[in-house]
Amino acid sequence: MLPPQKHTMKTSNNFPTLLAVCLVLTNITFVHGDISDQQDDKINSITWCTLNVQEQSKCLNLSAAVDRDRQRFNPSDFMELVCEPGLDKDDCMMKLDNNAADILSLDAGEVFVGGRHNGLIPLMQQIFEDGSTEYYSVALIKKNTLKNVYNLGDLKGKKACFAGVGTQAGWNVPINTLISKGYMKIFDCNNHVKTTVEFFGGSCAVNSLTAKYNLMGDNSDRLCILCASKVSGQKCTSNDPYAGDEGAFRCLIEKGDIAFLRHTTVLELLKDPSLSSKTREDDLELLCVDGSRRPISEFNTCNWGPVPTDAIMTTSSKTSSARISYQRWLQKVIELYGKPTSAQQSTFTAPDIYWTGGLNQPESQINNNITKSFDLFDSSVYDNHHNLLLQDSTRGLRLFEETQQTYKSYLGKAMDIVLGLRYCPVSKMTLCVTSEPEMDKCIKMKSALKVQLLVPELYCFRGYSQVHCMQAIRNGNADVAVMDAGDVYTAGLHYDEIPFITEVYDLPEPEYYVVAVAKVEDPDTEISFLKGKMTCHPGLYSGGGWIIPMAFLLSNGWIRSYGCDSIQAASNYFGKSCVPGALSNEYNPGLPYDNLCHLCRGSNYRYCKRDATEEFYGYTGALRCLVEGGGNVAFVKHTTVYENVGGQRKQLWARNILNNDFELLCPDGRSSIHDYERCNLGKVKANAVITRGGEAYNYTEVKAFTNLFMAAQQWYGRKSNIDKFTFSMFKSPEPYSDLIFQDATRQLASINSSLRHYSEWLGENFMLARRLVDCRAPGSNL
Ligand SMILES: *[C@@H]1O[C@H](CO)[C@@H](O)[C@H](O)[C@H]1NC(C)=O
Ligand SMILES: *[C@@H]1O[C@H](CO)[C@@H](O)[C@H](O)[C@H]1NC(C)=O
Ligand SMILES: *[C@@H]1O[C@H](CO)[C@@H](O)[C@H](O)[C@H]1NC(C)=O
Ligand SMILES: *[C@@H]1O[C@H](CO)[C@@H](O)[C@H](O)[C@H]1NC(C)=O
Repeated sequence: MLPPQKHTMKTSNNFPTLLAVCLVLTNITFVHGDISDQQDDKINSITWCTLNVQEQSKCLNLSAAVDRDRQRFNPSDFMELVCEPGLDKDDCMMKLDNNAADILSLDAGEVFVGGRHNGLIPLMQQIFEDGSTEYYSVALIKKNTLKNVYNLGDLKGKKACFAGVGTQAGWNVPINTLISKGYMKIFDCNNHVKTTVEFFGGSCAVNSLTAKYNLMGDNSDRLCILCASKVSGQKCTSNDPYAGDEGAFRCLIEKGDIAFLRHTTVLELLKDPSLSSKTREDDLELLCVDGSRRPISEFNTCNWGPVPTDAIMTTSSKTSSARISYQRWLQKVIELYGKPTSAQQSTFTAPDIYWTGGLNQPESQINNNITKSFDLFDSSVYDNHHNLLLQDSTRGLRLFEETQQTYKSYLGKAMDIVLGLRYCPVSKMTLCVTSEPEMDKCIKMKSALKVQLLVPELYCFRGYSQVHCMQAIRNGNADVAVMDAGDVYTAGLHYDEIPFITEVYDLPEPEYYVVAVAKVEDPDTEISFLKGKMTCHPGLYSGGGWIIPMAFLLSNGWIRSYGCDSIQAASNYFGKSCVPGALSNEYNPGLPYDNLCHLCRGSNYRYCKRDATEEFYGYTGALRCLVEGGGNVAFVKHTTVYENVGGQRKQLWARNILNNDFELLCPDGRSSIHDYERCNLGKVKANAVITRGGEAYNYTEVKAFTNLFMAAQQWYGRKSNIDKFTFSMFKSPEPYSDLIFQDATRQLASINSSLRHYSEWLGENFMLARRLVDCRAPGSNL
């Protein structure tokens, strides 16, 4: 159920160039108009994406009319109309994006979605008979109902009929009103459907279960319960009888308590003879934002807010000349098949409004019988439908100049409503990272999340070490950090911090096996006798690289324990090692043992550092230490060898290594790399995201942080099929690995609240192992 991955960042990078090219093209067209007319790139057809059978047949009739009247077009403006049926608006937006269609009319809310996700731009905007380009969002109810509703908060639990998720009048305006007035509590900052589900009773809001509005695929079906279709593929989609403004109206009449829709649809439907037997204007009224009720005729004062009229969209990839051709063609079509009267003409005098209907009045009188044969603003002949291709209440089209052809410019103030839906009570989440490469990745992630409007906004805090991050989280300079099991222990014990999200690798549970890897060409190294050997560890007190392996060696009695001082034990037993962090008094408050760093690679200040700047830090670093650092054994995760062999990593050290260059060390000898389920030193909990716990635990924050990570991975958690422009959370650019998240991560999962404590989470075995490697820990000043 992944949403379509879009190259929004890519597009925006190219935009200035594209714009420049377009400007040049425009000039050429204007200056050498007749030359460009003869060019090969003259566009011969325009493709309109249609949403249903009725719209398709109206489109075909328009196409036939245009074809018949071709001589009435200026030869350079004539284009054949092609009608391309789409499954729904989403499908049509994709068709435009993929150049399978050229134009489509969209509601203001959809203009935003198409603009952000499909690179669509508005070309023209529909104008009403009175010259206005706004209609109202209204709440329609039946008279003498909802007697206990005195303010909008009393709508809680009521059966609502929405025109559809994402539509401006039938969703964005009412939901934003309920949120901004404080009646509706934010449940998930990145999913207004979930927030709405918590407020209303069984309702109908079509598309509340489609991927675009149901990123994680776990939306409740409560906003589909009232929908009318009995067919499972149709229920609650744009093809449901209760879809759209007309659908919301029907839904109210037949089942609902309240409907949110455009006022224009209410007026149109009350005139519809097929409905007037069921319902009359006197049976209905409007619910105003202050809780009062008014007759429908008072929509000017009793509405929930204005909405810009629908726009005709194309894509930003169209050239200037194509855009101009489409505009001219549309103007001509309105002129030929609209319903101009002399009264309407005079209302359009504003210079920025291009009233195209009726401009050539004398000519259209001559050919009256031709133009009458197709009526653009009447859809009733098509199975009594409304608003096919364009809104029936449209009388003209306003043209946007190229600089105005952006969804932001078109939406204007309505942007605040669209963005208001993304309001989050928690405004930011600061992630603590421990190196420059991690900081770079964090900043990329910040902008990637911003592109998808995910909230709370991500901020990045550069800590010096994991321990520094723990301190920063405690004192509020940061909110979260991703920690290895060993650090989750320290953060819990000393800083009262809790794990709340875990990484998940290739095992069903959020954990990994700890394995001891040796080279095939070094057969003398065995796990029970590592005396004097060269050892490679991801980091001091890392769960898989220190705590579990050292506890394993100590508890088997293969190493002398020096009163559970694993650092001294290792230093005296191994020859040389690389244990990043061994010389840092943040991680090792006791005596420093130089030989625990002798195998490390980092130069100067990077030497033996417990972060990504030491080349032998982390699991991939430990494997590299084995391959080119002279190590005999590396303590790593069961996935580490797989992740780095067989040319997956381009760096020299990894280019020619293969799975079968390595073996696992088991108590009873050696085994293949694939045998980790049997031949391992133990299991460790996967890395986890930590935040403040105990007294400082803030439920609202933790819920918002969790939702942010969960939404983020829906967009950026993918590992395959991504190009280099797309940010990926679970990948790290070479030469680095495991930046912020482990590269082995397949997904992030929320930790069950009963396990949100370090010792519950890490489990008894780990706690025991931790005591074995350092029994002074609870009293140490780590
Ligand atoms: C549309 O075209 C069909 C078939 O060409 C025709 O039967 C129908 O009457 C036309 N409808 C209108 C309103 O022109
Ligand atoms: C328009 O009317 C004229 C005269 O009545 C007729 O000859 C012509 O065929 C009509 N055109 C169409 C397309 O109906
Ligand atoms: C929890 O966090 C939110 C947002 O940061 C804040 O407004 C609220 O006051 C906090 N609650 C408590 C109990 O500290
Ligand atoms: C959380 O853990 C408790 C106790 O183990 C269990 O009963 C509950 O079902 C778990 N909840 C989830 C969502 O897994």
